[in-house]
Amino acid sequence: MTKVLDVCCGSRMFWFDKQNPITTFMDIREHYEELDSGHVINVAPDIVGDFRNMPFDDNTYDLVVFDPPHLLRAGPNSWLAKKYGKLNLDTWQEDISKGFKECFRVLKPNGTLVFKWNEEQIRLKEVLATTEHKPLFGNKRAKTHWLVFVKEEQ
Ligand SMILES: C[S@@+](CC[C@H](N)C(=O)[O-])C[C@H]1O[C@@H](n2cnc3c(N)ncnc32)[C@H](O)[C@@H]1O
Repeated sequence: MTKVLDVCCGSRMFWFDKQNPITTFMDIREHYEELDSGHVINVAPDIVGDFRNMPFDDNTYDLVVFDPPHLLRAGPNSWLAKKYGKLNLDTWQEDISKGFKECFRVLKPNGTLVFKWNEEQIRLKEVLATTEHKPLFGNKRAKTHWLVFVKEEQ
């Protein structure tokens, strides 16, 4: 069976089927909150884990999707920070770099990584500088990017 891993599932907003049976949903937190703004935060991962040190064996997944927080600055009580999390100002490059390394470690050879990034506060170029892996293609001109990588057989 094909195995999929969503590394930062959050509230699973981009999923058409939020209970997709071939997918393992991971996040670093569990959280439920109904905000005054009407937004609902419902982070209920199958596995609570850290993308910098994932609790999975090497070469396990056919497809990994990596959608880390993309904001450095957001009020701690803002719905954006509550829904999407925030990066650490001092360590974000190292954190994202470890995340890429871990995604490639848990991917099977020839597996696919989909990386999502929004350029609101950090340019795509800066994020891609944290990994030696190069995307094959993606929507280059958008502000929100979906990039596709493959793990080449070693
Ligand atoms: C941009 S949001 C993901 C949104 C999600 N893809 C969706 O469709 O709703 C980023 C998520 O990464 C989680 N996160 C932050 N640091 C993490 C870490 N070190 N390991 C795993 N998840 C992390 C946050 O809790 C947040 O839910």
